[in-house]
Amino acid sequence: MTSPGFPMVSLEDVSRTYPGGVAALDGVSLEIRHGELVAIVGPSGSGKSTMLNVVGTLDRPTSGGVRIDGYGVSDLSDSELSALRATTIGFVFQHFHLAARVPALDNVADGLVYTGLARAERRRRAAAALERVGLGHRVHHEPHELSGGERQRVAIARAVAGDPPLLLADEPTGALDSASGAGVMGLLRELNASGTTIVIITHDREIAAGLPRRVAMRDGRVVSDSATEHEKPYSPGREEPHVTGREERQGAGRGQPHGAGREAPSWGAAASGGAA
Ligand SMILES: Nc1ncnc2c1ncn2[C@@H]1O[C@H](COP(=O)(O)OP(=O)(O)OP(=O)(O)O)[C@@H](O)[C@H]1O
Ligand SMILES: [Mg+2]
Repeated sequence: MTSPGFPMVSLEDVSRTYPGGVAALDGVSLEIRHGELVAIVGPSGSGKSTMLNVVGTLDRPTSGGVRIDGYGVSDLSDSELSALRATTIGFVFQHFHLAARVPALDNVADGLVYTGLARAERRRRAAAALERVGLGHRVHHEPHELSGGERQRVAIARAVAGDPPLLLADEPTGALDSASGAGVMGLLRELNASGTTIVIITHDREIAAGLPRRVAMRDGRVVSDSATEHEKPYSPGREEPHVTGREERQGAGRGQPHGAGREAPSWGAAASGGAA
């Protein structure tokens, strides 16, 4: 499924200019390896979501190279890109993006439509994914009958039901209280420990400080990366995005060692018929 150390995401001098001339990304180079858990931080408007959308192949760069799991994105047709997205990448968003008035089970199962699996199998996998995020008892609840934290767990179940090796999360705890946010982060860590590469945009310094690698952006550029500790020169006099906790575990961060018996059910055991 995953090859530790092999590049999962590779951006080479990527720029994205919007019509009107906003350079949302301005020469970003970044490599993320299989098994890493990376925080993207930076002020509002610094290009974090734009970068995540480029990595997720939802947006194409104006210039520069993007490779996802070894595939050069610019070499792929739209349908090949859709296939790459469907098999390789899961997305989680701040505001969940669940379908209203649709039970959790169907919200998750509908995310598997593009796999070509039969409906019964999609629902079986959706139920397993909900079980994995601790929502086995809420499969028939609609989003408005769930708490914010539970909604985000449904969204995570939907993102990972197809076992994508790469999970991209844009402010996944941004709309949650701290306890629910901690639950979601615990879930993401468990998922990372089972091998999924995860990239998380967060404004929460505490969350960022607790992750193995932090990449800071400003004005469309990467201004620091704790994996390399290089600091690019930047115009003085402006507040620099500052994250604490610089102690690093270097190299391809396979998941953190986790105590067994955390409250969240263990990832992998229930997945895909226990094949993980
Ligand atoms: N569709 C668009 N058209 C024009 N400009 C855009 C578009 N989307 C984003 N931008 C601009 O690109 C820059 C980067 O936006 P982006 O959404 O990536 O920032 P961000 O770091 O995710 O910010 P936030 O923390 O507020 O979510 C901003 O200046 C924004 O105004
Ligand atoms: Mg954003």
